[in-house]
Amino acid sequence: MTDDPLAEAGYLDIPSSSGGSAGRGWWDANAAEYLQEHGDFLGPADFCWCPEGLREADARLLGDLSGRRVLEVGAGAAQCARWLVEQGVDVVATDVSGGMLAAGAAYDRSTGARTPLVQADARQLPFADGSFDVAFTAFGALPFVPDAGRVHSSVARVLRPGGRWVFAVTHPIRWAFPDDPSEAGLTATRSYFDRTPYAEIGASGSVLYAEYHRTLGDHVAELTAAGFVLDRLVEPEWPEDHHRTWGGWGPVRGALLPGTAIFVTHLGR
Ligand SMILES: C[S@@+](CC[C@H](N)C(=O)[O-])C[C@H]1O[C@@H](n2cnc3c(N)ncnc32)[C@H](O)[C@@H]1O
Repeated sequence: MTDDPLAEAGYLDIPSSSGGSAGRGWWDANAAEYLQEHGDFLGPADFCWCPEGLREADARLLGDLSGRRVLEVGAGAAQCARWLVEQGVDVVATDVSGGMLAAGAAYDRSTGARTPLVQADARQLPFADGSFDVAFTAFGALPFVPDAGRVHSSVARVLRPGGRWVFAVTHPIRWAFPDDPSEAGLTATRSYFDRTPYAEIGASGSVLYAEYHRTLGDHVAELTAAGFVLDRLVEPEWPEDHHRTWGGWGPVRGALLPGTAIFVTHLGR
C-alpha cells in the first residue's frame, strides 16, 4: 500500500499527465495484494486471456508461433509469457511496474522457468524497429493510460511489417454498468459515451490510480490510426460451468453481457 491514504475515488476529471504516470506507482504498491487475490486464478504459468477463462492453448489468437519472436506488453507477473516459454516460444515480457516484474521473477524461481523480463512503459518500448513478429497483452497497459494511441504506435514500431497485435481489454459496454457481479450490476447507471476516467486520489492530492474508458469506436480509431487492420473482435462467452467471479465479472452478468473484448489485428504495412 502507498503511504498516501485514499481521499477520493470516482469518475473524475484528472490531468492526463498524472493519470498516465499513476499506473507504475499503483501497481508497485499493490502487486502483492493483486496477486494474492487473482494469482490463483491466473496461475504462475498459464495463458488466460480474460476472467471468462479463455486460454491461448484453445483460442490460438496469436497464430502459429514457431520461429516467431513475441512481445508481451503490460505483462504483470508474466504468467502468459511464462506459459509461452514453456511451449518453447521466443518471448520477452515487459511491464512498467518493477513490483509486478519482481513477482514474475519469484514465479520463475518457483517454477524453474526463465522468462525474459524487461521493465518498460508500453508507450516507449526499448526495442529496435521491426524486432518482433507478434505482440500481445491481456488487460495490460492500455486501460491505465490516457493516450492508448501511443501504446499502439509504440507496438507498431517494434513489429515487423504485417506483424500481429492482439490485445484484450474490458468490454466497453461494461463501463455503463456498476462493477458488481450480482443482479445489482445488471442495470446501466452511466453513459457508455462518458469518457471521464475512474480515478483514486490520495490525501496529498496526487492521482494514485486511473482507468480509462474507450468505446468500441474509440479502440478501432486508435488502432487504425497506428496502422493496424482489425481482423477479428472476439467476445468470449461465459462458460456454463465457470462459477468464479473477478470484480464485476461473474456468471450472473456473463450470462447476459460481454465482459471482455479481444482485438486481433495486423500491421497493414
Ligand atoms: C491487470 S494487469 C495485466 C497483467 C496480467 N495479464 C494480469 O492479468 O495480471 C495490468 C498490468 O498493466 C501494467 N501497466 C500499467 N500501465 C502500464 C504502462 N504504461 N506500460 C506498461 N505496463 C503498464 C501494470 O503494471 C500491470 O502489471
